[in-house]
Order: sequence, then C-alpha cells, then structure tokens
Amino acid sequence: MLAAYAASQSASDPLSGLVVGERPDPEARPGWEVVDLRAAALNHHDVWSLRGVGLPADRLPMVLGCDGAGVDADGNEVIVHAVIPSDGWRGDETLDPRRTLLSELHDGTLAQKVLIPAGNVVPKPASMAWETAACLSTAWLTAYRMLFTNSGVQPGGTVLVQGAGGGVATALIQLGAAAGYRMWATSRDEARGKRALEIGADRVFGSGERLPERVDAVMETVGAATWSHSVNSLRPGGTIVISGATSGDAPAKAELTKIFFKQLRVVGSTMGSREELGQLARFVEQRGIEPVVDSVMPLEQARDGFARMVDGDVFGKVVFTVG
Ligand SMILES: NC(=O)c1ccc[n+]([C@@H]2O[C@H](COP(=O)([O-])OP(=O)(O)OC[C@H]3O[C@@H](n4cnc5c(N)ncnc54)[C@H](OP(=O)(O)O)[C@@H]3O)[C@@H](O)[C@H]2O)c1
Repeated sequence: MLAAYAASQSASDPLSGLVVGERPDPEARPGWEVVDLRAAALNHHDVWSLRGVGLPADRLPMVLGCDGAGVDADGNEVIVHAVIPSDGWRGDETLDPRRTLLSELHDGTLAQKVLIPAGNVVPKPASMAWETAACLSTAWLTAYRMLFTNSGVQPGGTVLVQGAGGGVATALIQLGAAAGYRMWATSRDEARGKRALEIGADRVFGSGERLPERVDAVMETVGAATWSHSVNSLRPGGTIVISGATSGDAPAKAELTKIFFKQLRVVGSTMGSREELGQLARFVEQRGIEPVVDSVMPLEQARDGFARMVDGDVFGKVVFTVG
C-alpha cells in the first residue's frame, strides 16, 4: 500500500527522514480490524516524530498519522480514534499510562489502510464529508476536551487562544464560537490573525500584546514563547489549559509566583476519549461546522503538506485524500 512513513529522524531537518512510498498491507488479527482510509490529515505530532520526539528510532520504519476516516470491514463509514489503550485497560484511555497514539507503536493513518483495535472508531455522520471527518481524530478532539472538559468556562466567558493558525488553535476558535464563548486569539502573523476573525474569533492580538481585559481561560499549545503572556492574561482564579509546547517546553520564566498569587489553575490536557470523539463528531454535524482546511492534496503529495507545516505556513488542517 502507499504510505507516508518515517524512515529516519533528524531534529534539524525533519523532512529528510520522510518517505512516501510502498509499505506492506496490514493484516487483520484477532481483536483488531483494518480500516480502508478515504482521507487522513496531518498534525504537528507527525513532524515531532520525524524530529525524533516521542518515537524511538528502534521502531522505524513507522507509518505516520493520527487523523483518519474510512470504511471498516463491515462497510461502515467510521472516524478512527487514535488513542490506543493497552490490552485489558478499562475507562478513560487517555489515563492509561501505557496508551499510545497511532504512529507511536502501531502504524498510523497516512496510508491506504490502518490496523486498529476492533471498535476503536466512532461512526462518521452520513452527511459529513471525508475531508471533515479526517480532521477530527487528533487536533479537534484535543480542542474539544480542552474547552468543554477542562477549561471550566461557561458560554459567555472569554477564552484566549495562543497562536491562531494551527490545527488545534483553529479548532478551538471554531468550537468555542459555536458554543457561545467569546473567543480571542493571538498570532505572530497579521494575515493569519485576520483569518481567525473570519472563522469566529471576536478579536485578535499580536503575539504578546496586552489585552484590554483579563480572560477566564487561556488555551496554550505554543509553550515557551507565549507562557508569560498566558499567565499575565488571566483573571484571578482563571485557568490555563495546556496541550502542547510547539516553541519549546522550558519558558524563560515559569511565573510560579503569579500562578499561586492569582490562584490560577494549570490543567494539562491530552487528546480525548472515544466517547468525546463521538460527541465531537455529533456537535460538528449538528452545528454545521466546517473545519478550516489549509490545503487538500493526494497522499502521493504528502511531502508538500509536511513542508508547509515545518515552515509554519499552515492555517487550519492539511488533509490528504487516499485513493
Ligand atoms: N496533547 C495532545 O493531545 C496534543 C494534540 C494535538 C496537538 N498537540 C500539540 O499542540 C501543538 C500544536 O499542534 P498543531 O497540530 O495545531 O500544530 P500546527 O498546526 O503546526 O500549529 C502551530 C501553532 O503554533 C503557533 N506557533 C508556532 N510557533 C510559535 C512561536 N514561536 N510563537 C508563537 N506561536 C507559535 C502557530 O500560531 P501562529 O502562526 O498563528 O502564530 C500555530 O497556532 C503541537 O506542539 C502538538 O504537538 C498536542
């Protein structure tokens, strides 16, 4: 089958280890099933894997990809759940200390087929486009849990999203706007800031710019570059939900004094449960949300999509169609 996989890793030149070529078809085994993918999407996670973060070199070659939607062996249209619990785990799979994401231990979704534990899917709403369904498994699921499970913000509250253009960031803006939150965003780039307004942000600010008032919660995926601004932007008792650290995980100032003095909550958030993925798919369908897609290209051209993400050019999701 055709697949985009990591053949080697380089911290400074992640594209050097990416191969788009043939890999063996996965074979169904007891308790696992093969999904024929129709579309898949890119996450920053895939770039981290090529940089050698989170994917040990002894597991290469590894098919990349956590996002995907396709058809199962019974002909059902499904969205793949990328969180793979260990054998016998019960309950919230994100709390399983031995859980992995697709492409960390088991081959991922940037391929014509993917092998997953049977039932590790949710139904794709019939009216939902494949390109939309393929966006939901990772960045959108992460955004859903950050906002609706972990932020504690009620409709009418104000939420700041750091870094407007990313997959998680655009999902946060669209989901929050649809749910009745006042969504503010920052961006390093004026044009991406303008686009954030078009997809539902009430206001946008330059990276690090002082806000006109303090917010109830900050959604943080940028990390070191925006951490101080996140702490300073919160009202007393406010919440930072953090699910990523694209610019690094060691900020120059940890801001510990401000965190305890303002009684802030710092909540880590990772992916979401299969139940939350099902709720997300229904919410997106019911509210007619169309995830912002940066670009759609055939899987054969996956290298172009990776290059856009490495260069920091994306606004929304990069989607690959699978023939
Ligand atoms: N914990 C989880 O379950 C989970 C799930 C999904 C993603 N993540 C993590 O979340 C992060 C974002 O993922 P993604 O797929 O959305 O990535 P992406 O599409 O590449 O987005 C990167 C984002 O970071 C901003 N950014 C990057 N470098 C920056 C810098 N130096 N200063 C300010 N802003 C910067 C960009 O904003 P502008 O260009 O608009 O400024 C953009 O919003 C990644 O680190 C990823 O690993 C974690």
